[in-house]
Amino acid sequence: FEGMTIVELAKRTGVSIRHLQEIIVNVGEKVDSEFDPLSIDIAELVSMEVGVNVRRQHSDEGAVLQPRPAVVTVMGHVDHGKTSLLDALRQTSVAAKEAGGITQHLGAFVVEMPSGASITFLDTPGHAAFSAMRARGAAVTDIVVLVVAADDGVMPQTLEAMAHAQVANVPIVVAINKCDKLSADPERVRIQLGTEGLLLEDLGGDVQVVQVSAKTKLGLDKLEEALLLQAEIMDLKARIDGPSQAYVVEARLDRGRGPLATAIVKSGTLVCGQYIVVGSEWGRIRSIRDMLGRATSSGKPAMPVEIEGLKGLPMAGDDVVVVDSEERARMLSNGRKKKLEKDRLLKASEERIEIEDTSE
Ligand code: GTP
Ligand code: MG
Repeated sequence: FEGMTIVELAKRTGVSIRHLQEIIVNVGEKVDSEFDPLSIDIAELVSMEVGVNVRRQHSDEGAVLQPRPAVVTVMGHVDHGKTSLLDALRQTSVAAKEAGGITQHLGAFVVEMPSGASITFLDTPGHAAFSAMRARGAAVTDIVVLVVAADDGVMPQTLEAMAHAQVANVPIVVAINKCDKLSADPERVRIQLGTEGLLLEDLGGDVQVVQVSAKTKLGLDKLEEALLLQAEIMDLKARIDGPSQAYVVEARLDRGRGPLATAIVKSGTLVCGQYIVVGSEWGRIRSIRDMLGRATSSGKPAMPVEIEGLKGLPMAGDDVVVVDSEERARMLSNGRKKKLEKDRLLKASEERIEIEDTSE
């Protein structure tokens, strides 16, 4: 989207160049030549105006890419131990030990290993955020840990989670949990998963399986190793410099501090003082905090950060984009709000039509 010209935009949207130029003038922008590259904000505004759905994608062409930690989502059936496993993993982090435990629940946390490597985990309920982000084409999750209780075995939501990951093309690492239990039967889980078409590594596939117990902490190091290995295979990299793009995993209203959004930085570096548009909200970053609640001046790729300074509450799955000025931020936020309203009305009228149809 970045650097698109009016001519290209006309081609993509099927709207005439003349009409696009009018819209651009209407949003208060100058039009010199239809061959001049448009800023990404203007391109988005204009596209929304003509009813085209857009997804912002900053070009990484020519940018220096650096290795980044993996972002992992834990999924699985009810009561299979997702929360327990996350808590146990959280406690293995070096930083958590230094800080005397992580008390903040930000919707995401980083496990730093003694080796210096780290993994970012999206907290449960990551399910909703995962689905919301996938629906918007923003796959922030690199790897899914599929938790299956060794005593209970594969259940409906296990399969649902599996399907989610597969549709999103996100690799799975299986954690067979509750292996401390007498009734645990990890072998049965393996067979069940194999029957469901998951290509486990013991059977010649490439899906790693680790036996763990969130209760006794058995196998947590093995799980972390498996995740690091999977991340290495994927060769995860991100652009560090330049405008940041991030995704909201959780948002809440704090009495004193106002709307707070926890976001995972996808690329670039988020910096205090920047004007941002988050979903259809906007603001200026007043402070950035890490998962230990420490104020920091910037957020780098795969880092969960808590952003303060928004005017309204965004939603999980919303994108965070950096814009040049307050004016741009307001404009883009307004444009997105209008688009949302338009879509809502459209949907409402479609529903009405359906009701009329069935009443005949
Ligand atoms: P929902 O969020 O409700 O879907 O559940 P969950 O998947 O987060 O499971 P949770 O961590 O809440 O654990 C469910 C129950 O299983 C709790 O009573 C845990 O104490 C227990 N549990 C979790 N992990 C283990 C384990 O490794 N061993 C044993 N014995 N019990 C476990
Ligand atoms: Mg839970």
